[in-house]
Amino acid sequence: MTLSIPVEDLVRRRLAGASLEAPFYISRAIYDLDVDLIFHRHWIFVATGPDVPEPGDCMTVEVGKASVLLLRGEDMQVRAFHNVCRHRGARLIQDHKSTVGNVVCRYHQWTYGETGDLLFAEHMGADFDKSCHGLKPVHLRSVGGLLFICLADEPPADIDRMEAQLTPYLAPHDLDNCKIAYSYDLIEPGNWKLTMENNRECYHCVGNHPELTIPLQEYGFGFAPDELDDFRKADVETYREVLADSYARWAGMGLPSEELDELTTAVTGFRTQRLALMGAGESHTMDTRVASQKLLGNLTDARLGGLSVWTHPNSWHHFMSDHVVTFSVLPIGPDRTLLRTNWLVHKDAVAGRDYDLENLTKVWLMTNQQDNDLVAMAHAGVEQPGYEPGPYSRFTEGFVEKFCEWYIDRLSAHLLATPSQVAAE
Ligand code: FES
Ligand SMILES: [Fe+2]
Repeated sequence: MTLSIPVEDLVRRRLAGASLEAPFYISRAIYDLDVDLIFHRHWIFVATGPDVPEPGDCMTVEVGKASVLLLRGEDMQVRAFHNVCRHRGARLIQDHKSTVGNVVCRYHQWTYGETGDLLFAEHMGADFDKSCHGLKPVHLRSVGGLLFICLADEPPADIDRMEAQLTPYLAPHDLDNCKIAYSYDLIEPGNWKLTMENNRECYHCVGNHPELTIPLQEYGFGFAPDELDDFRKADVETYREVLADSYARWAGMGLPSEELDELTTAVTGFRTQRLALMGAGESHTMDTRVASQKLLGNLTDARLGGLSVWTHPNSWHHFMSDHVVTFSVLPIGPDRTLLRTNWLVHKDAVAGRDYDLENLTKVWLMTNQQDNDLVAMAHAGVEQPGYEPGPYSRFTEGFVEKFCEWYIDRLSAHLLATPSQVAAE
């Protein structure tokens, strides 16, 4: 039996404080709406400056139906364009990463410069106006070295606010003077919202992440205070002491660390907070010490915990004193999601001398695989007829609710302005 429900009705009747109804995770029609209304109209995190470090460096990224190329020019500016030739529409750059002089279409050799201008087009006649056939630009913004693109004609303006608020947190880590030490693409067998929801809570951490919970304390993301036994109460007390000590030290250094939460109050939703780490308190490693001996920027103190940065709809990041880990979530289909993870170290750090790659990557390679399995399990469950939305813990899943609230709000804003006529199966 096929149940047809207008998507507007599903959006209107969404129950706050509970997971979404099944069609939001499994319907092809809602997936297509997500691509159009969320991924093609909001600021999407796709890369960092060090992805294209030198003039002529080029990278392609697929956001829903759009292929976008990022190109660094001689002026060191990174620009973004639709990866589509203005002649007969061939895809221009095939490789994920390459270095180009100009952008030359292989089909008939139309040639574009670093600003997207059409420089060369043979056999088009004297009356052909090259100036009308430059590459179509895509909006691009760097926020502390994190590169966001927006495919809308008029992108949400409040990225200015996000940039103003996040820059003081990010700047000490000097991401633009990092290099990518390791990059890893994982295709998760689940809907992109399940990937995001899973990231927005640590309820599952103790039961599933033996490596991550060495540096990260699960109580940093909330707990039910009345349910703690004596052992866990002692744990919480220790964590409170670590927190108080860390915040006092960071304040003394002039390092912003307090929580900023604009997850549901902005179209370009974000949150940041410097999290205290356990043990030596230095990094996301198995021994909680820095993985790279060359600290980032002008930092001299290794014990900076982990600056957690989240953006809606598709990213999270951890900035430590010695390295940064970035995560970009890109939907591929209703039940397939690309999770792209990058580990960045100081650009002058040398593998084998300043850092050991296995030590640098171990915690998040293991954690990603564990999360992949959880997302697969969650997706397999929401596909079943027995699934119905279940309640979030008000202690540990408040940020999952904020993700869903933001998502439903953004769908409403677009759908109620222009009803979709889409019914989910
Ligand atoms: S389609 Fe690109 S040059 Fe013809
Ligand atoms: Fe996880």
